[in-house]
Amino acid sequence: MTVRVTVQGSTNEAPSYDVVVGRHLLGELPGLLGDGVRRVLVMHPASLQATGEAVREDLVAQGYEAFAVELPDAEEQKTAQVAAFCWQVLGQADFTRSDAIVSVGGGATTDLAGFVAATWLRGIKVVHVPTTLLAMVDAAVGGKTGINTAEGKNLVGAFHPPAGVLCDLAALETLDRWDLVAGMAEVVKTGFIADPRILELVEEHADELREWKGSDASPETWTVLTELIERSVRVKARVVGEDLTEQGLREILNYGHTLGHAIELTERYQLRHGAAVAVGMVFAAELARLGGKLDDAVVDRHRSILDSLGLPTTYRGDRWDKLLAAMQRDKKTRGTLLRFVVLDDVAKPTRLEGPDPTLLAAAYAEISKEPPAGRPGVTVQLGL
Ligand SMILES: NC(=O)c1ccc[n+]([C@@H]2O[C@H](COP(=O)([O-])OP(=O)(O)OC[C@H]3O[C@@H](n4cnc5c(N)ncnc54)[C@H](O)[C@@H]3O)[C@@H](O)[C@H]2O)c1
Repeated sequence: MTVRVTVQGSTNEAPSYDVVVGRHLLGELPGLLGDGVRRVLVMHPASLQATGEAVREDLVAQGYEAFAVELPDAEEQKTAQVAAFCWQVLGQADFTRSDAIVSVGGGATTDLAGFVAATWLRGIKVVHVPTTLLAMVDAAVGGKTGINTAEGKNLVGAFHPPAGVLCDLAALETLDRWDLVAGMAEVVKTGFIADPRILELVEEHADELREWKGSDASPETWTVLTELIERSVRVKARVVGEDLTEQGLREILNYGHTLGHAIELTERYQLRHGAAVAVGMVFAAELARLGGKLDDAVVDRHRSILDSLGLPTTYRGDRWDKLLAAMQRDKKTRGTLLRFVVLDDVAKPTRLEGPDPTLLAAAYAEISKEPPAGRPGVTVQLGL
């Protein structure tokens, strides 16, 4: 069954678009590309050559002039040099403002392709065909695009919503177990901030999801994964439909990300994003618990769900100073106080701004792998 979720637009520059979830969806591409598109550049990493070529051939069969560009893998493609190469291809093929880009790949590819589309002739259409769980539930939906610089990740970018997103579940048949599990961290995040049914489904099916078998997964596992993707996409669509440029509501999607980003940075991006966000969510839950806002049971639920998926819930006890410094540097780039998304309860997110350093350190002690003596029972009342 094919499901269609609409992301509401707000302006002519950001019109509404559909996220289509199902199988064998290539026939949907012309509808998402819309009228007037003649040339299409398909952008895919080398590892997805066969899928990229199948999309290009399909577009040719449907009457488009379609080109393909093969990109380096993962973060290697999110550079100014690779973007410049793509601009060169677009220029040499005479792409006009009414032509389009189709991305085929994980979040790194949708970020790069979105950025190239945002900048070519000040913005041409892009349709994303995400091929990882993370890209389906997160990166491809919402219009954030970007590349990295030597100084950090995603420092250059633009808000450029796609013309449509095709989540073809068949792509996940070849996804390795760790990429599936890393994507599950964002699914669980969506459950905690907005949709308790996601948490129940993960609790019931964690074993099969953790041991993801791709094309050998059981029909029941596919059914569950499909429902998890649909539910996650619905939440993201609703949130970014209300707040494209992160002025308010969209911030809830950063649950677990404040500490998560700092961990990724101190690990020099060798740890998967989902693993860092998993630790960050337990930290945020502890922050809320120690501030007297969140019940022990909900904090325990964070640990049990993430554990059951094989995601980490603790981090090195000797890293706090570094992580705090990294979070504070990140804070400066936003020009505001250190802030966290925390929960009052499941599906009741709220914002915590400028928490006391004692509360932060106490929450970190709770997730430390080498906890200091006397750790249990710390309660700090600092009026969250
Ligand atoms: N724009 C946003 O809102 C947003 C949100 C979250 C993450 N991101 C970005 O997304 C990126 C991470 O995305 P990701 O986890 O998808 O990583 P990725 O794009 O690097 O893909 C991970 C790996 O999986 C491979 N792969 C992709 N699809 C496959 C498939 N179907 N079968 C087998 N292998 C496949 C890729 O070649 C790569 O090696 C980061 O750059 C992050 O900054 C962006």
